[in-house]
Amino acid sequence: MGSGQWMVEKRSGLENDSFLNEHETAPESGCLSIIVLGASGDLAKKKTFPALYHLYRQGFLHSNEVHIFGYARTKISDDELRDRIRGYLGKEAEVVSKFLQLIKYVSGSYDTEDGFQLLDKEVLQHEVSKNSAEGSSRRLFYLALPPSVYPTVCRMIRKCCMNKWGLKTYIPDWHNWMPQYYAQPSLDLLMVENLHIFADLGGWTRIVIEKPFGKDLESAENLSAHIGELFEEAQLFRIDHYLGKELVQNLLVLRFANRFFLPLWNRDNISNVQIVFRENFGTEGRGGYFDEYGIIRDIIQNHLLQILCLVAMEKPVSLKPEYIRDEKVKVLQSVLPIRDEDVVLGQYEGYRDDPTVPDQSNTPTFATVVLRIHNERWEGVPFILKAGKALNSSKAEIRVQFKDVPGDIFQCQKQGRNEFVIRLQPSEAMYMKLTVKQPGLEMSTVQSELDLSYMQRYQGVPIPEAYERLILDTIRGDQQHFVRRDELKAAWEIFTPLLHRIDNGELKPKEYQPGSRGPVEADELLAKAGYVQT
Ligand code: NDP
Ligand code: BG6
Repeated sequence: MGSGQWMVEKRSGLENDSFLNEHETAPESGCLSIIVLGASGDLAKKKTFPALYHLYRQGFLHSNEVHIFGYARTKISDDELRDRIRGYLGKEAEVVSKFLQLIKYVSGSYDTEDGFQLLDKEVLQHEVSKNSAEGSSRRLFYLALPPSVYPTVCRMIRKCCMNKWGLKTYIPDWHNWMPQYYAQPSLDLLMVENLHIFADLGGWTRIVIEKPFGKDLESAENLSAHIGELFEEAQLFRIDHYLGKELVQNLLVLRFANRFFLPLWNRDNISNVQIVFRENFGTEGRGGYFDEYGIIRDIIQNHLLQILCLVAMEKPVSLKPEYIRDEKVKVLQSVLPIRDEDVVLGQYEGYRDDPTVPDQSNTPTFATVVLRIHNERWEGVPFILKAGKALNSSKAEIRVQFKDVPGDIFQCQKQGRNEFVIRLQPSEAMYMKLTVKQPGLEMSTVQSELDLSYMQRYQGVPIPEAYERLILDTIRGDQQHFVRRDELKAAWEIFTPLLHRIDNGELKPKEYQPGSRGPVEADELLAKAGYVQT
């Protein structure tokens, strides 16, 4: 049902809500309210508000239709919130101050209705001030909050803050139509009628949820079930910000728009795949949070596994988000149970000096896990996922290493293998390591690179921040780069047994020096998995 269209539907009740599903691409006009819950927090300050600022600066958010609301328990004024975030925005003072004027702060608790009713009133006032046709308003709730409060907050939003639907009833008198608008919480009104005319005015309510989505399979499923009772899947945007990174988004294009790769991308040619995340700093200030989760839940089960899906999945039928997510789920479901000998855990020396970390903490700050995909394309190819804090560098990259050339006539010169590297950060780049003739009179070979460094090739072209892109996708209703419920479940199924064993102390992390490559056992595992240093 497109915007502004009419639909006549005979209904006996609300058991089937399919007519209420979101559009794949909603119109980008009409009043838009962006509500950042947890506005006083770290993520809101460092990522959410700056991303909104950049969208505004680039003209994706128009001041004549957008308003931004911050909500949290902390009692501060609008100006105090603005002062807190000002330093994280841009240097263009005039644009910054215009943007800040779009922000209003509402203080309230997360578990009582008063605050949310007040929030709803403020949002409604904004919608009225913009002469928004009732039903056409858009409300985007961004949960920059600890996951423990997601269920309550979602319940409050559902109860007090939904947009007023684009829904009219003209019953019972067909010849004397008396339009009435119904807000979503009053759905029970519909139960008494059985014939309605619905006007879709393009409005919506969407919820952005930050990871971690649960701590294991059971808690994630509970959370999904709870939120799923309140919102349609099409309204839920589970953010994994790695999916918003430029070179992660490029993976689909690279793999499926280049003839070059098609015949090579399989077990016949590829020896192993590494997906690596390193940070050269520790948990700094987030020790309390981190200790509850550890590196596997923080980075591997989500960011690196999402990348694995894009590297390993089959070609989707089209770019329709559901087709892409279907293929990702298939890959996840083909991953074999993790074996103990395919895991190395580490904890950096000094991690437990953080006062918020328990003295006996068994939480890994480093992990290498080898995954194996049981399907026709990848049988026998190790996918090595490696992540660590307090290492010797900060980097995220994908390394696809090819097998040795059969019957290699240059073998005696011990040349390296072909390797295709995609560097997500820092300095986005892709390069192909290959063997060439050493320039000169001798017939000798040397390892070189075909190099596509974005800084050189796309000089001056700004690369958007992941959050910017993902918030824009949410406004546009494009779920391609968000995690679907079944995808999340399949991801937890892979890691939950291992995580439980670590939580129970059955597997212990090895200590490593901050600033090192991590435990030496991780390099040994890498070699065992077939990786050859080139
Ligand atoms: P914060 O700890 O800063 O919490 C955000 C706000 O939530 C706080 O300002 C506080 O607001 C409120 N809050 C904090 N603790 C509680 C609590 N126990 N009960 C109720 N409210 C609480 O979190 P972040 O901003 O760091 O992260 C928010 C979400 O984003 C989390 O899910 C996190 O995992 C995720 N995330 C964060 C990243 C980051 O870089 N920070 C990166 C990726 C994901 P008030 O007291 O004013 O209500
Ligand atoms: C977050 C993790 O999801 O990603 C952090 O919780 C980590 O621990 C961060 O530092 C890394 O993100 P980026 O975009 O800086 O690589």
